Amino acid sequence: MRSMSENLPTGSGSVADDSLAAWFSELPGLVCDATWAVGHVVERERMARETYRLRIECPAIAARILPGQFVMLRPAEGTDPLLGRPFALFDVADGPDGTARQFDIGFVVVGKLTRRMSRWEPGCPVAVWGPLGNGFPTEYQGHLVCVAGGIGQTPFLAVAREALGLRRYGSPPRQPASQSRRVTVLYGVRSAELLAGVEAFRTAGAAVFVSTDDGTQGHRGLVTDLLAAMLGQPLPAEQASATTEAVRNLPRPDRILCCGPEPMMQAVARLANEHGIPCWLSLETPMACGFGACFSCVVRVREQDGWDYRRTCVEGPVFAAERLAEW
Ligand SMILES: Cc1cc2nc3c(=O)[nH]c(=O)nc-3n(C[C@H](O)[C@H](O)[C@H](O)COP(=O)(O)OP(=O)(O)OC[C@H]3O[C@@H](n4cnc5c(N)ncnc54)[C@H](O)[C@@H]3O)c2cc1C
Ligand code: FES
Repeated sequence: MRSMSENLPTGSGSVADDSLAAWFSELPGLVCDATWAVGHVVERERMARETYRLRIECPAIAARILPGQFVMLRPAEGTDPLLGRPFALFDVADGPDGTARQFDIGFVVVGKLTRRMSRWEPGCPVAVWGPLGNGFPTEYQGHLVCVAGGIGQTPFLAVAREALGLRRYGSPPRQPASQSRRVTVLYGVRSAELLAGVEAFRTAGAAVFVSTDDGTQGHRGLVTDLLAAMLGQPLPAEQASATTEAVRNLPRPDRILCCGPEPMMQAVARLANEHGIPCWLSLETPMACGFGACFSCVVRVREQDGWDYRRTCVEGPVFAAERLAEW
């Protein structure tokens, strides 16, 4: 097999039509429709403490990316850091001709690249791989509930807009078979200063209910308290709040989507299972390549005859909750 460095692309292009295609074809099951491109930052907005939104001009990816898919980003110049980092689609924005030319990601500063990204200025060139991953299923219906923990809210703006029929994504723009009548976002963070994008969700027509660990906004406690209340479960008096009582009056969810820290997603999966509600989880498993080659992102999933490992980057990041073997 040729080494990857011999085949690394030197400009924008689809892996289906440049030298990488040959390399990919030697490894069955790899993503073949992702594009490698150099985009440019056009906007950086501070959304919350250590949390930013970047808008990147990159028509090749903006036109095709779907809610729940992600991109790998790294600086376009130099080799530090060497590996790209995965970021979920937050939303896309159109150019003057009405087609998607830019995409947004939202991120929190945790380490090397995200600290650097928090200083990227308009014009900064960015290497982008994408669209990657499977995205959320589009059988939208009834009451869609998105449960987000921390920066796990980022995949849900595009989901809400698509589910409510406000925006079509992909090329050609896809038309989901059905729409949701109502989208509710249950959004938990450690403290109010970390809340990011709440107004964007409300503008998209979603109702947002907040929990904070320290009680600085909304329900004091876990976001799973809100879901438990919505599902009609009794809560001990000390866990009840105005927010838990408000969500208790909402209709039962028809499906639940979730993204956030693993213990939170496990609790959401258990609640959904107990109440017989279909649930999908978007995993944030650390990834090295993002396109199926390195196996750094495997997760155990249930199979008919037991279990097997699956790569989160190509067969996820979205999995039906009941497929995750150890959850
Ligand atoms: C499919 C997918 C979508 C994602 N979407 C978003 C998003 O929309 N917004 C966002 O802010 N982040 C998102 N992440 C997480 C994001 O990729 C990491 O925060 C990022 O890689 C950190 O890069 P860094 O160079 O700043 O940190 P590094 O310097 O690489 O690491 C700093 C610290 O963070 C830890 N770390 C790195 N990645 C992860 C991870 N995935 N889970 C837990 N700990 C980690 C490292 O172990 C280390 O301790 C997503 C991850 C995945 C897999
Ligand atoms: S990140 Fe390399 S195989 Fe998934």
